[in-house]
Amino acid sequence: MSTQKLATNALHAGHTPSETAGTRAVPIYQTSSYVFKDTDHAANLFSLSELGFIYTRLNNPTNQILQDRLAAAEGGVGAVVFASGTAAISTGLLTLLRAGDHIVASSSLYGGTFNLLNVTLPRLGITTTFVDASNPESFGKAVKENTRAFFVESLGNPKLDVLDLKAISKEAKAAQVPFIVDNTVASPALLNPIEHGANLVIHSLTKYIGGQGTSLGGAIVDAGTFDWTNGKFPEFTEPSAGYHGLVYSEALGNAAFTYKLILEGLRDFGGALSPFNAFQIIQGLETLPVRIKQHSANALELATWLEGRDEVAWVNYPGLKSNKYYDLAKEYLPKGQSGLVTFGVKGGFEAAKKLTDATKIFSLLANIGDTKSLIIHPASTTHQQLTAEQQEAAGVGQDLIRLSVGLEDIEDLKLDLEEAFKAISTVTA
Ligand SMILES: Cc1ncc(COP(=O)(O)O)c(C=O)c1O
Repeated sequence: MSTQKLATNALHAGHTPSETAGTRAVPIYQTSSYVFKDTDHAANLFSLSELGFIYTRLNNPTNQILQDRLAAAEGGVGAVVFASGTAAISTGLLTLLRAGDHIVASSSLYGGTFNLLNVTLPRLGITTTFVDASNPESFGKAVKENTRAFFVESLGNPKLDVLDLKAISKEAKAAQVPFIVDNTVASPALLNPIEHGANLVIHSLTKYIGGQGTSLGGAIVDAGTFDWTNGKFPEFTEPSAGYHGLVYSEALGNAAFTYKLILEGLRDFGGALSPFNAFQIIQGLETLPVRIKQHSANALELATWLEGRDEVAWVNYPGLKSNKYYDLAKEYLPKGQSGLVTFGVKGGFEAAKKLTDATKIFSLLANIGDTKSLIIHPASTTHQQLTAEQQEAAGVGQDLIRLSVGLEDIEDLKLDLEEAFKAISTVTA
């Protein structure tokens, strides 16, 4: 594991220029497959008696450098990258779980993840109990004999609830299940869940890590801390029918889950990241520590400004002293609270819709974590398929607007919102 700091690892981890023809930049290995020296070499690679590249669905040298950097950034023993954050989550859960298993999850999750747990996985026999994550004990209380994972977002999208990760990780330890933390909104530059007891960390690389809104990607970082031999995960301790009798926990020790993700998760579900996207995401990761500071500073200033506006009913940003999660943010996010701000407009659903139509610098679209500022009205878009109760639990009211505050000049951003408020003044009056 690297002992260097994030800003250094983000630029250097995993890449030795002398091994890539001296290239200072990480090269793009745009190839689907790799020439074997002979059939013995090929046989050794397939049986894992020699490590190397076989096919880009399993691994690729550009992707490997990104994997090494992400593992270093989060403090894990390994990482696996995927075609999107959603591919990371679904492949991770399907690699870990089987029909009959149960998950305990925070009720405030990104809408896509909520649907996966609430609708799609139950079709395959994997069920979830959603709990109020502001009460860590609710996780322990929801545990059943067949519970096999806890799943949360460190900073919920879009509720922006900061979780007491240490307290929830204690509940996971007591239940002897892996604690999975989606750290997309905070990013590894602001928070490292592994330091607070997470066993697996998820990222949508599409957001702050890629950072430019150009490329989808996802990752799972394995802390290497979970004991797969505790009797609840026979697929790690018994010969794998899916990989000619390999016993993952014996053969691979604390990298057992990382390898299972590659050898079975990527092989069977196929959600591999394109090397070109890995290259783009590497460019983003290199500047993440600098960018996220400015995203956080801009978001705090804009949230403070919004609190002073008559048209605004409420503002939610964990860096605000008035915020419910301020104390937890001081503990878990002391370097900054990232770039998302939510607020309610007086005038409710219609006023919120109109305001999102009226901004010019803030683009109306369904993404977060871009250098450019973004705006959305979740109740009419990303969360429209949820029931009113589910919207409430996810923290999505009818009047809620989510901003992903970018890196433009803060005065221009204020002016853009001010003009938009003027444009809807008949609705908010
Ligand atoms: C917290 C969080 N996790 C996961 C995802 C899914 O990532 P992707 O869009 O890369 O599939 C998102 C997408 O918005 C997200 O906000």
